[in-house]
Amino acid sequence: MEKLITLDEFIIQSQKEAKEATGELSRLLRDISVAAKIINRDLSKAGLVENILGETGTTNIQGEEVKKLDEFANTILIKYLKTSGECCGIASEEEDSFVSFHDEPQCKNAKYLVLFDPLDGSSNIDCNASVGTIFSIYKRISPIGTPCTHADFLQSGEKQVASGYVIYGSSTMLVYTTGNGVNGFTLDTAIGEFCLSHSNIKTPSKGKIYSVNQGNYHDFDQNVQDYINYCISSEDDKKPLSLRYIGSMVADFHRNLLKGGIFIYPLSKKTGKGKLRLMYECNPMAFIQEQAGGMANSGEIRILDIVPSKLHQRVPIFIGSKSNVEKALSY
Ligand code: AHG
Ligand code: MN
Ligand code: MN
Repeated sequence: MEKLITLDEFIIQSQKEAKEATGELSRLLRDISVAAKIINRDLSKAGLVENILGETGTTNIQGEEVKKLDEFANTILIKYLKTSGECCGIASEEEDSFVSFHDEPQCKNAKYLVLFDPLDGSSNIDCNASVGTIFSIYKRISPIGTPCTHADFLQSGEKQVASGYVIYGSSTMLVYTTGNGVNGFTLDTAIGEFCLSHSNIKTPSKGKIYSVNQGNYHDFDQNVQDYINYCISSEDDKKPLSLRYIGSMVADFHRNLLKGGIFIYPLSKKTGKGKLRLMYECNPMAFIQEQAGGMANSGEIRILDIVPSKLHQRVPIFIGSKSNVEKALSY
């Protein structure tokens, strides 16, 4: 039987191969994986834990109802990133503004920032559909030892040093990239370790799946409607694509990353904006998708080239297999 390669071993091995690596990013990734294991542990029995399901009764800056598990995951991540000592500050979907750790003694030399969606797909949580955590890591641009600044958190996606997600599904997986390919690790709960299960993930160049909330069809621009009609037609001697939509970006993205296909959340005519957040949903997924050989575009510009203006800004997204995204952009 093959020797299991744990995430920790893989990170240390990758660090040895990256000449400029000094270990801080490795420690940070390990701290994130510990937080993921804790979130997973409590999610997996959420139905049993006294009043951890349902709403908190509050709404976040996005104007969305905050689920107790959103808040729980957010608290765990902040706690583990603050005590990590490698993170100088964070931004979260559930925090109005960024949070600087400059007054934490263990963080005074920290040079990494982490932006995250603590629980993605939380509208699915109470019905046991897959949900996830998404994270995006940058080097700070403000001087080490000083409070973090807005500019630290508004760097374009191209500047990410690492990004990844955890999917809490039929099995719990952590998938991440540091710019040298994408690797997936499955949590073996018996030993409490993420073990390498999907090395060097590459997305098929063309897929047979499209993922969109079809219910919003009449709220899409004509060109998007034309593309969706193409997906379900038999034009170009292709068969109609299959619609697969779970409603958790992490779950839809993960399936298409492995099987091929395209996930789109286009501009809404009603709001004139997309729904998904650039900094902690679109950028991290775009980094992974490009590293796996696919594409990620807003319909106008490569996602990773967008110059952010606001921490919680929303962008439209077309992400997935190269040929499927190119076809969508041709509309
Ligand atoms: P979150 O739970 O972090 O707010 O994210 C939900 C997002 C994303 O996970 C998913 O792709 C999308 O919302 C689904 O939106 P619709 O329900 O409008 O299709
Ligand atoms: Mn989300
Ligand atoms: Mn969320």
